[in-house]
Amino acid sequence: MATLTESRILQRYRELTPNSARLAREARQVLPSGVAHDSRYLEPYPIFVERAAGAHKWDVDGREYVDYSGGHGALLLGHNHPRVVAAVAEQLQRGTHFGACHELEIVWGRCVQRLIPSAERVRFTSSGTEATLLALRIARAATGRPKIMRLAGHFHGWHDHMAFGVSSRYDGSASPGVLDEVAKNVVLVAPGDTEAAAAALQSGDVAAVILEPTGASWGQVPLAPHFVAELRELTAKHAALLIFDEVISGFRCAPGGAQQALGIEPDLTTLAKILAGGLPGGAVAGRADLLEWLEFPAKPSQREKISHHGTFNANPLSAAAGIATLEIVETTDACERANDYAARLRDALNAVLREERVPWVVYGTYSGFHFFFNSDRQELSAEEISSGKLDYRVLKARPSATLLTKLRLGMLIHGVEIFSWPGGPTSACHNDRDLQRTADALRETVRMLKDEDEIES
Ligand SMILES: Cc1ncc(COP(=O)(O)O)c(C=O)c1O
Repeated sequence: MATLTESRILQRYRELTPNSARLAREARQVLPSGVAHDSRYLEPYPIFVERAAGAHKWDVDGREYVDYSGGHGALLLGHNHPRVVAAVAEQLQRGTHFGACHELEIVWGRCVQRLIPSAERVRFTSSGTEATLLALRIARAATGRPKIMRLAGHFHGWHDHMAFGVSSRYDGSASPGVLDEVAKNVVLVAPGDTEAAAAALQSGDVAAVILEPTGASWGQVPLAPHFVAELRELTAKHAALLIFDEVISGFRCAPGGAQQALGIEPDLTTLAKILAGGLPGGAVAGRADLLEWLEFPAKPSQREKISHHGTFNANPLSAAAGIATLEIVETTDACERANDYAARLRDALNAVLREERVPWVVYGTYSGFHFFFNSDRQELSAEEISSGKLDYRVLKARPSATLLTKLRLGMLIHGVEIFSWPGGPTSACHNDRDLQRTADALRETVRMLKDEDEIES
């Protein structure tokens, strides 16, 4: 097996991307590991992007890529949708930040109310992380209980309550910089374990259960809909709140998010990504009596209101982009197109893997795809994985760092950028040419990996 430094894949990548290499050297002098987000880290260095349009982006060496990072899932409509660009350009002329109330925040909030079934009221934040942070605070204030139940492997951003138990520390121990006292107030339950969830809720000190309703890391560990329905019943029975973290599934699985697709209504929903049309933004939406905790003055039943600030909350540019995007989501088949493309892409990639006799499986639900590396060479179909056959620890386990890096570099060499999961979200503007290019890229990459004995030929 060629090590990374001896790898011809790595050598070829370096030959094709000298300008990215130069920028990466500079970036490391400024940014830890040269990146601004852990998921963008790649050995020997990531591509540096100059521009993007539709489902494609171009790096500083002039190379074009089919894009499957999709703005970390924010770009259901692809890059630079003309209506979104026009709305932002128009707003730019009027002002970027009034530090005051403005009409667009009402229109934007109305879009959320119309689309998200459980959204009686909306409070905007600047990110998904801020949204989950606020939702937990509302839950604790409203119930007077200290604990939060999370499902192991589910991702909810990076604040202290969420910074462990996502891809490691499934025992619930605190990660560096997180207080043990905070971690102790988080109960981690294995996805699908109704008994454990019931036992935890029985204790009466759980304020809320928060989950990604389509499964950990947006379906990397698919979640059975009946389990979500059971959590709805259990939380109602034990007077705890149910929070759907729809930061990625919102406006994506369906215009009304996973809650519309599943027909299950949570008490609170966290939103971001597509919500703000590719600009920064987030929101907590949900029951009016819960969002009431943010209102002036505190109600007699509340000792004190929840204080909530945020310089960029409901920023006018984000509102303009968000409104344009949500109107398109509401009035077109954008979600369906992205879902349909993903289903066809998963089939096409699995066909390549079968033809190349590679035991990996590409699976997923809605507009996403994930690679399972199947190191035990089990007889498994994408449907079996998607219906929850495998344990979350198996699905979350990463292959060797070398294999993962070589896979991502191989795809980049052949003009496709997959996300670090590995896999990616698809958009409403990926087309048949993109699909063919992605399948061809996987075939060529797999052959390169075989040449380096990373997979058996
Ligand atoms: C389900 C989920 N929740 C929360 C977050 C955090 O959102 P943000 O990156 O906007 O802070 C993410 C981001 O990927 C997410 O996928």
